Amino acid sequence: MKKLLKILGIILGVIVLLIASTAAWVKFTDFPSYEVKNLEVKLPTDSLSLVNGAKIARTVCAYCHQSDNGKFDGKLFSDESEGFGEIWSANLTHHPNANIAKYSDGEIAYLLRTGIKRDGKMAGPFMLFPKLSDDDLAAVIAFLRSDAPELEASEAEHHTRYSFLAKALIKFGVFDPLEYDGEPIAAPAATDQIAFGRYLATRRYDCSGCHSASFETNNILEPEKSVGYFAGGNILKGHDGKYVASRNITQHPSQGIGKWTEEQFKNAVRSGIRPDGTALSTAMPRFALQDEAEIEAIYAYLKTVPVLETTIAKASH
Ligand code: HEC
Ligand code: HEC
Repeated sequence: MKKLLKILGIILGVIVLLIASTAAWVKFTDFPSYEVKNLEVKLPTDSLSLVNGAKIARTVCAYCHQSDNGKFDGKLFSDESEGFGEIWSANLTHHPNANIAKYSDGEIAYLLRTGIKRDGKMAGPFMLFPKLSDDDLAAVIAFLRSDAPELEASEAEHHTRYSFLAKALIKFGVFDPLEYDGEPIAAPAATDQIAFGRYLATRRYDCSGCHSASFETNNILEPEKSVGYFAGGNILKGHDGKYVASRNITQHPSQGIGKWTEEQFKNAVRSGIRPDGTALSTAMPRFALQDEAEIEAIYAYLKTVPVLETTIAKASH
């Protein structure tokens, strides 16, 4: 009996020790490091590409990087209460102290394709554009190098503090960087309306990322396999700090936008006004810079997406 107790004691001791050392490892060791690559990118100089890059950056990157002063100098992305710690986006302006000043064009491209920063660490899983076309990617980088007013030097500095949970997720490889296979990526021609609309809705503007059930169940490489594809339910925060669930934008007649006209859809997407005249939360970006043909292509593509009932929003917040 005594012997059995002793053995049990030893086993328990080993388990406690294992848990404590794993916890210490999660808490105190550095994040895993990955190889950094400097991809080949040729920045465009023609005005059409520059306008395109500015348009993408001012809608997509602006959503997380533009602060209240209008500059892309970073803002609070996720606060303590959301469970991952206090996460700030980065200062992307031309200030010499901003990290981006050290990045080559090819390193920015690698970050956006894989999530791997110049220091070899993984930026969270929220800034991934693995299938953005090579031309769009280069156009965005050209914008970042331009003298646009949003990029005028700002000395803003931010300090991210990850929670234990976030550290554990990163260290156990739940948030792994994406592989980069070097295959050239081209966007479909605008004349191929449905394919172009799919590209815009899943790649260039990532409507599907927000409009599927949850970032946790999204499939970044094959968005159609995301849970509740375009059926909404993902919880997002507006500038007012209030959380809202993204909406069902499949053709469901009552829960989705099956009864909306194309005009009503354009109004909601570009100006944030619903058919009943109410305004959408700023958790939904405004796509006011996008041209008619882009919004029409997205609308045409959404008509081909399977009709689903709205995903029940997670009961958080
Ligand atoms: C969903 C939010 C989100 C979007 C959209 C987003 N970013 Fe970020 N970005 C972040 C966060 C958060 C960080 C900080 C990551 C970190 O500190 O590890 C960041 C960091 C960066 C960094 C700095 C990395 C470093 O080493 O300091 C660059 C460069 C960057 N983003 C570029 C872009 C560009 C270009 C776009 C648009 C194509 C974009 N981001 C879109 C959230 C976002
Ligand atoms: C960053 C997340 C995000 C992105 C990206 C996004 N949306 Fe939204 N969208 C939302 C949220 C959240 C709502 C709900 C806002 C509310 O209820 O006030 C919404 C609402 C809408 C609505 C209104 C639906 C209704 O029933 O009222 C439409 C239409 C819409 N989005 C279309 C789009 C399209 C098209 C794109 C891509 C071009 C897009 N969204 C990209 C988050 C996003």
